[in-house]
Amino acid sequence: CGIVGIVGRGDVAPLIVDALKRLEYRGYDSAGVATLDGGQLDRRRAQGKLVNLERKLKEEPLGGRIGIGHTRWATHGVPNETNAHPHFSHDVAIVHNGIIENFAELRTELMADGYEFSSQTDTEVVAHLVARERKNGAEPVAAAHNALKRLQGAFAIALMFRGEDDLLVAARNGPPLAVGHGEGEMYLGSDAVALSPFTDVITYLEDGDWATVRRDRVEIFDIEGRPVERSRTKARSTSFMVDKGNHRHFMEKEIHEQPEVIGHTLAHYLDFVGGKTKDIALPFDFAKLDRLYISACGTAYLAGSIAKYWFERYARLAVDIDIASEFRYREMPLSPNSAALFISQSGETADTLASLRYCRSAGVPIAAVVNVQESTIARESDAIFPTLAGPEIGVASTKAFTCQLSVLASLAIRAAVERGFVSPERERELVRELSETPRFASAALKLDRQIEKLARELAQVKHVLYLGRDTSFPLAMEGALKLKEISYIHAEGYAAGELKHGPIALIDESMPVIVIAPHDRIFDKTVSNMQEVAARGGKIILITDTEGARRATIDALETIILPTVPELIAPIVYAVPIQMLAYFTAVFMGTDVDQPRNLAKSVTVE
Ligand code: G6P
Repeated sequence: CGIVGIVGRGDVAPLIVDALKRLEYRGYDSAGVATLDGGQLDRRRAQGKLVNLERKLKEEPLGGRIGIGHTRWATHGVPNETNAHPHFSHDVAIVHNGIIENFAELRTELMADGYEFSSQTDTEVVAHLVARERKNGAEPVAAAHNALKRLQGAFAIALMFRGEDDLLVAARNGPPLAVGHGEGEMYLGSDAVALSPFTDVITYLEDGDWATVRRDRVEIFDIEGRPVERSRTKARSTSFMVDKGNHRHFMEKEIHEQPEVIGHTLAHYLDFVGGKTKDIALPFDFAKLDRLYISACGTAYLAGSIAKYWFERYARLAVDIDIASEFRYREMPLSPNSAALFISQSGETADTLASLRYCRSAGVPIAAVVNVQESTIARESDAIFPTLAGPEIGVASTKAFTCQLSVLASLAIRAAVERGFVSPERERELVRELSETPRFASAALKLDRQIEKLARELAQVKHVLYLGRDTSFPLAMEGALKLKEISYIHAEGYAAGELKHGPIALIDESMPVIVIAPHDRIFDKTVSNMQEVAARGGKIILITDTEGARRATIDALETIILPTVPELIAPIVYAVPIQMLAYFTAVFMGTDVDQPRNLAKSVTVE
């Protein structure tokens, strides 16, 4: 969810909506704004995307110089108007991101006290808690503080009070919350980008912090109520509003930006002219590591899964790759000679952050591959490796993924150099290979018409299987993930060699199988797997190169032929047709490509 709060000089509702637009990536199943209009709390809420709220505000505008707003990704309670934030209780209004873990117990207690609940959210519990403190005589700030002490879980909160025209109370314990400093105005936002049109002077609240925000001052406290000092930073994010250019969707635009942003990213890590990986400051010594722990979620996890092959193959460094939500509870014994690497586009994913903190408490040095350099994961890491993908708006990750791969491939080669497994000549060759990625990605984009045609057929089916070996195996999973995320067609990615151990039972004429197989040393093995599919009537779409297409003599085969690319960069280049296939299929299905149902770009709950 995304949170905004403003104590301003003029009417704030339009400004709040403007900021919410920049936070819509955090959830978009409902939205709302509350202001203090003539001393009274008033609100507008709407189910669905922000445009619905905007429409409502046009019909019934909200006045008021102080307000809070929210865009929601539902956790407790369906995404309808009743469950939309802000929630009210008596003289208290609240917006909240995260989960109140002890909400059931608090709800029972409050109901016994006569409080009635009008929503199914955990948030309303907090509104009632604060309202009860007020009823028992506490001043607004003390009431908020007393209530906060009762909460367990991960949350970011903004509160406003009837009759208090110059006070917002903010609290952070988990999901990010930033205070923006203006001239006679103050702001709250889930990130600095939300506040970028208003100010670039930002204070990030830390976990356990809460704050009082007034027009002329911001005071920050710890949970005991002791004042704490937090520095002001200048936000790097510019206020440019990202637009789609000539593209139908952000996802399409982001797919097409890949040659450029991959190039930028690689240039950050590689010296193309000198044919070398650049020196990078590391909180550990690659040569001394016996293990690297990588954890991440979603697409970032699949980037990490590909990187495992690279680190092990080129740098002879054993990698444990984990889904962050598993790693954080796995009670894994961590080697003393290890390092941990976290991958996250947003840098805010709750499970990834929790895994980072687990490693921190075990004393393991921490590095992160992030796209948002001001993010919490970035700030809590000993070293960050930025992906220079630029803002990614489409919920389904595309350019962030290939930029993550670009960073990880560069790092793996760097590790190989430092560990003595790659000679200077080989390093030069690998750097040259990487430098060709943007050109090959451009060539892959030119296959769009053919892929669009195939997508038209794919849009007719109910299930799709993706197969691959080696680095094409995680890529097969990414292909399946992309397709299901945006087209809602059921898809699975499998290691091609596993086909015979189960999924082959699913194969019939109605089940297309997408095989990702550049012509490499294990290509013939994959051909055998394709034979197994063809023998059972399965229709195959083979994504390969010229040599692969020549050697795969199988009936009923559609081929997407890419340029012949070096093994190292194949997963980056092959990601492009995979993304386009999902994209065009979704377009044919008529889904909301950039904001698919039930998903959010950044998930700050576990
Ligand atoms: C969400 C997004 C995915 C993303 C995952 C991890 O589920 O919808 O596209 O891969 O979170 O996000 P992160 O920001 O940590 O890379």
